[in-house]
Amino acid sequence: MDELFVGVFMADRRVFKRIRDKFLSYTDRFAGDTGVSGGIKLKIKHSMAVCNNAMRIGRTLNVCEEVLWLIGISAILHDIGRFMQFEKYGTFIDEISVDHGDIGVVLLEEENILSGLNAYEKEIVRFTVKHHNKPGLPLQYHGDKMCVLKVVRDADKLDILRVVLEHYESRDENTFVELGLPNKPGISEKAVKDILSGRVVSAKHVKKLNDLKLLYISWVHDMNFNITINIFKERNYLERIKASLQEVESIEGIINKVKGYINERINEHSERRCT
Ligand SMILES: [Fe+2]
Repeated sequence: MDELFVGVFMADRRVFKRIRDKFLSYTDRFAGDTGVSGGIKLKIKHSMAVCNNAMRIGRTLNVCEEVLWLIGISAILHDIGRFMQFEKYGTFIDEISVDHGDIGVVLLEEENILSGLNAYEKEIVRFTVKHHNKPGLPLQYHGDKMCVLKVVRDADKLDILRVVLEHYESRDENTFVELGLPNKPGISEKAVKDILSGRVVSAKHVKKLNDLKLLYISWVHDMNFNITINIFKERNYLERIKASLQEVESIEGIINKVKGYINERINEHSERRCT
């Protein structure tokens, strides 16, 4: 971590609180006569939870206080584009509406949310918001911004898993988390091939709800830090997703392979590099 965070960081608890309050008053605008809708409420709660996850991950990486606050700020704001997306298009599916990472960056400017941060810090937050939702990391970049992005991407995945599992386990009204996919038995062969090859299941191989659940399990292959894998295990996400799958015979082999990968990561001697 020596060469990291050489820029001048000034974020502190006061700036963090001010930006969090700005974020909350921005989201207030999406409340109708009967208050905020389920989708908006879910995203506000998600933003706060991603912030908690990210700061927990950040703490284990031994970054300084200022960077930790910047990680928290980037995490709270990562989905800022979701509110406008949901209000305007009634969906969280980027492919049929807008890329919520890209519009998030525009909103940060329009709403002047980042005032109080210096130019270097602003660049890191914008970078994180833009790239948090892309299929993979932008590997052409390095340095401080990549580190913050990696933390937020991990924190985001952990909380998406909370949201979807709460839905599967309680059958709450948030059916949009199923992305309109049919709940049929079995898993698509190509999705199985992806996960068994140590890859994240490709979105184009997701044809039914079980495939989507397999994609969530396969996220372990895109977790940047071993602490994230630890939290994934601590929250029992693997077993809980498995329990929610519909009539899948071949699942044991997949689960055992993923368990093996999780244990390998947890037993690594040192944390993975930040950049
Ligand atoms: Fe998110």
